[in-house]
Amino acid sequence: MTRTSDPLSLSLRLKDATYTLHENLDKGIMAHGLFSSADKYKSFVTLQYLFHRDANALYNHSQLLEIIPDLAARNRFAHVCQDMQDLGLTFPDDEKPIENLDASTAVGWLYVAEGSKLGANFLTKLVEKLGFTDTFGARHLAADPAGRGASWNAFKSAIDHAGFDPVLATTGARAGFMRVKNYLTTPSVLLSLSA
Ligand code: HEM
Repeated sequence: MTRTSDPLSLSLRLKDATYTLHENLDKGIMAHGLFSSADKYKSFVTLQYLFHRDANALYNHSQLLEIIPDLAARNRFAHVCQDMQDLGLTFPDDEKPIENLDASTAVGWLYVAEGSKLGANFLTKLVEKLGFTDTFGARHLAADPAGRGASWNAFKSAIDHAGFDPVLATTGARAGFMRVKNYLTTPSVLLSLSA
């Protein structure tokens, strides 16, 4: 029997624990109109850059690589760097890397990064209208090669059956969402907004 979402699975716990944070973040992003023009979309790409830059090292977490063998290939940091270049954006230098985390907390952070690829399905349709695609400007929003659903289910299945500490993982997921939320009002993101 395949158990990808039993009632007490880690992925469902994380979804429940971050539901409001995700809703508030979505609303904040949409309220800023980040998909209403090419210039405003630059703020979204900068926001994504900052988060994926900070999360970059987690995709090489040695313990997690044993549990999620394709972890490194899931990393979108290189794609978002290319998007920054496509859009002629300056790379912010206020680096705050997430490093040396225990595996459970790290998985919470990765839940945020990997889950964001689901919402990206909807966002690609908005940015296509602005002229950005998976080969220019919106590379980081593209689906994983296996497809969004299959890739997400594989990630959930891996984290649901590995015995992670749910309290630590929840702390990591909440911290991940808070990091993105805080970046939404950081000067390098707001700068593109006022352009
Ligand atoms: C960088 C910002 C964002 C992050 C970090 C993020 C994170 C996540 C996460 C972790 C999930 C998985 C929830 C779960 O099923 O456990 C998710 C799903 C989803 N997100 Fe976001 N999200 C972001 C922005 C957005 C935005 C702006 C929208 C649209 C307004 C959006 C719409 C959705 C939708 C519709 C789903 C569910 C898709 C499905 O179940 O097929 N997200 N997101």
